[in-house]
Amino acid sequence: GYLGIDLGTSGVKIVYMEEPGKIEKQVTKEYPIYHPHPGWSEQHPMDWWEATIAGIQEILKDVDTSDIAGIGLSGQMHGMVALDKNGEVLTPAILWNDQRTHEECLYLNNEVGREFLTKHTGNMALTGFTAPKILWLKKNQPEIFDQVRYFMLPKDFIGYKLTGELFTDVSDASGTLYFNVEKRTWSQEILDIIGINEAMLPKVFESYEVAAKINESASTQTGLPVGVQVIAGGGDNAAGAVGSGIIHEGTALISLGTSGVVFSPQRTYSVDENNRLHSFCDATGKWHVMGVMLSAAASLKWWIEDIHHGDYDQLLQEAEASPAGSNGLYFLPYLSGERTPHNDPFARGSFIGLSPTHTRGDMTRAVLEGVAFALNDSFAISKDLNLTFEQVSIIGGGTKSSLWMQIFADMLQTTVVTSSNSGGPAVGAAILAAVGTGAYQSLEEACTKMDENGKVFEPNVSNGEVYAKMFPVFQKVYSALKDTFGAIYQVNESL
Ligand code: XUL
Repeated sequence: GYLGIDLGTSGVKIVYMEEPGKIEKQVTKEYPIYHPHPGWSEQHPMDWWEATIAGIQEILKDVDTSDIAGIGLSGQMHGMVALDKNGEVLTPAILWNDQRTHEECLYLNNEVGREFLTKHTGNMALTGFTAPKILWLKKNQPEIFDQVRYFMLPKDFIGYKLTGELFTDVSDASGTLYFNVEKRTWSQEILDIIGINEAMLPKVFESYEVAAKINESASTQTGLPVGVQVIAGGGDNAAGAVGSGIIHEGTALISLGTSGVVFSPQRTYSVDENNRLHSFCDATGKWHVMGVMLSAAASLKWWIEDIHHGDYDQLLQEAEASPAGSNGLYFLPYLSGERTPHNDPFARGSFIGLSPTHTRGDMTRAVLEGVAFALNDSFAISKDLNLTFEQVSIIGGGTKSSLWMQIFADMLQTTVVTSSNSGGPAVGAAILAAVGTGAYQSLEEACTKMDENGKVFEPNVSNGEVYAKMFPVFQKVYSALKDTFGAIYQVNESL
């Protein structure tokens, strides 16, 4: 069997899979996220490792360890992990949804230049990417920067702890902005600009390649046998696509986790010349484009858990009683700023259009619809790039709500399918391990063996008409508020 480990933002999920689609066991272990300043988002790499150890130990209670043929890794992308010369963590990891690097992005996009960045990396600088984080560290905490011996991504830290080796994969490396996505190698041009060298970075593999083996120390801590092969794995979205069989052009995946993602495989390298969608390597040896919003299920979690200390069933039932369009209420889900399509670290969440007749059910439904409208922005861009999809698969925690799935089907006017194996990226990581260690000839073969008993949601036409009328207004709300969000930030800074 195969272990898939997905180092998410809310927790690490580990699955044990005998063969594609056949998940024997899964566990999730959570860890905290810290926001020490507005817009900052951090986690402690050792929290990840401790949760991973606990998760593996729990899985191994029911597994004969001599049956484990391979381990695959997946994880939240873009995070900056910095280690010293002894391999010790120097500073909290700066995560994918951290917004502190606004100035570094202005420098990269305007002075180094978007064209130069796009030529060498396939992308422009965005606050979440790793390169601006390294520039931030260099400028703001030079005493830490000077001690850094290795920079790596979150899942690569877990790979390092498991094997003692420093390795990454092309899909995750794509999110650093110092990786040449077209050539699938580190970009010397960009490394020169940020002032680091390749010896500080992990060795790069294709996602399905065996990269290293479990070492003694990891074996003692986790119970995994020494020598089990670890494959390089993928960023969570690329691994999630493999886990749901989204590996062909013309298919699309929405990942509805803390972040919200619209992912579509591209069989040849292509770049949106306006940099609206990211162009990254995928986990199959090819490429994909993707739009990413920062607070998808995070918006619902905030609304239900933080604001209402409520239970999901109760609040979602109330939302179900509200009609499509939430009686004219709009919610902007930009709680942590927004990436696609606004690239605006200062954007914030808002309810717009409240009246005395609105209920809590309308507000909950507006949150669900606001996230769907925000992802519809990425579909609108895809359409503009002539990418169309007959069917959309959705994975992630958000799939637990059938109401939300129906809202997506209605808004996109497309059949929506959810996977019956709820493991998402962890399942993809396990499949990559099965392919990488030789159990299957190819990813295509492994993916066609995937369980296809997912739930299907067909679009309702009249709800679709409501959303089609509301979408341009949703888009207008952000344009109207953009300057106001900037002013709010400035005043907050001065208080
Ligand atoms: C992708 C992104 C997020 C994280 C979440 O660009 O930033 O989807 O990978 O885990």
